[in-house]
Amino acid sequence: MMYFRQGKLNINFNFVSYYIMRRLLIKNIKQLVQVREVTAEPIKGKSMDEVPHINDAWLAVEDGIILDYGSMDDFPGITDWKGLEIIEAEDRLVIPSWVDSHTHIVYAGSREGEFADRIRGLTYEEIAQKGGGILNSALKLKDATEEELVESALIRCNEIISQGTGAVEIKSGYGLYPEAELKMLRVIKKLKTLTPLSIKATFLAAHAVPTEYKTNKAKYIDIILNETLPQVAKEGLADFIDVFCEKNYFTPEETIQILEAGKKLGLTPKVHAEQMSNYGGVIAGVKCGAISVDHLEFVEAKEIEALKNSKTIPTILPGAAFFLSLPNPPAREMINAGLALAVASDFNPGSSPSGNMNLMQAICCIQYKMTPNECMNASTINTAFAMGLQNEVGSITIGKKANFFITKKINSLDMIAYSFGSNPVDQVFLNGEKIKTN
Ligand code: NIG
Ligand code: FE
Repeated sequence: MMYFRQGKLNINFNFVSYYIMRRLLIKNIKQLVQVREVTAEPIKGKSMDEVPHINDAWLAVEDGIILDYGSMDDFPGITDWKGLEIIEAEDRLVIPSWVDSHTHIVYAGSREGEFADRIRGLTYEEIAQKGGGILNSALKLKDATEEELVESALIRCNEIISQGTGAVEIKSGYGLYPEAELKMLRVIKKLKTLTPLSIKATFLAAHAVPTEYKTNKAKYIDIILNETLPQVAKEGLADFIDVFCEKNYFTPEETIQILEAGKKLGLTPKVHAEQMSNYGGVIAGVKCGAISVDHLEFVEAKEIEALKNSKTIPTILPGAAFFLSLPNPPAREMINAGLALAVASDFNPGSSPSGNMNLMQAICCIQYKMTPNECMNASTINTAFAMGLQNEVGSITIGKKANFFITKKINSLDMIAYSFGSNPVDQVFLNGEKIKTN
């Protein structure tokens, strides 16, 4: 029998003999990172620079769930070895899997031609005005079958798993028209059955205005609200509803109209806000009670003030700011103002063709002067709050999913951002199962 501490008690777990539980024990962990007894609130302001941890630790998992943990000094006696897998983690850290609360990883084709055009001097907006950008991806997606989309998205899922991600939010938004949006959301639903990732789906028909409705945006919004959205809700295909609030896309008023309609059908709002200009997306999102507002390169003092008086999680997307050479989002100002900042990847073909959350940590440290500890909180527990998964993932907490990775031999957490471009992940565990990553 294995003895594990639960809370402060010593409990003898009597395993029922006819049911063999899947049990895993990781011992001699150099550092068990992001250990939290409770996660009732996102981590805000100054506290973001603290990551609770146990040096020289052990971690026990049972049936896919974190059962207990502790210091090797108080290592429990083991008398029953039946079905117990033991891993020695010497010189390695154990870190809860990244939670990536903003991606668009269902898409067809790629847009490296636009990338080369931008290098030669065109802007993202100029390319979009010529029918490139989101409309280019929508054209490609129209002709792709559900099977093709599942296949290419699965490759991206496996890639991010190998880089340490365990939970991901995935948006529609390259379909735009009802059938194509529904196709994207059905693909996301299928992915939930095909990967061990925890997945949440977001309805984002308000991502761009199709060319034929450019002079009649009201008609396109009418289609979203009266055709696509009701069907999405009826089939239970989305958890969130999102709008790209930006000049030439959707105004703050339209954003509120669309988000409120989604709320009525049970979807929780999110907003793509202040990415290219200070346009009003954050304030619109806060007004609607958005769970998160994302991008934030052009956030000013008034948005920070509005966020301080809300539960909305400000989320920065360093991959997109880096790839599009946008101004840095005011990450330090937001943390110094006491906000709970989150960091996600925005993995998509146009503005962030990478979902590597280790790289996102490096950009935040190097470009935005966030500390490695702040980045760790921002991409685990705070992103978990930004996708409503705070009770399931984002920390080493008894009862949460056993989603974590064992690092290569590294000295400390700081080495994740320091070794930018390297993959610190050695072994991945999702739902307590070791995932084959190559
Ligand atoms: O999050 N900002 C709007 N949407 C995406 C870009 C999508 C694209 O260019 O394909 C983003 O950056
Ligand atoms: Fe996005």
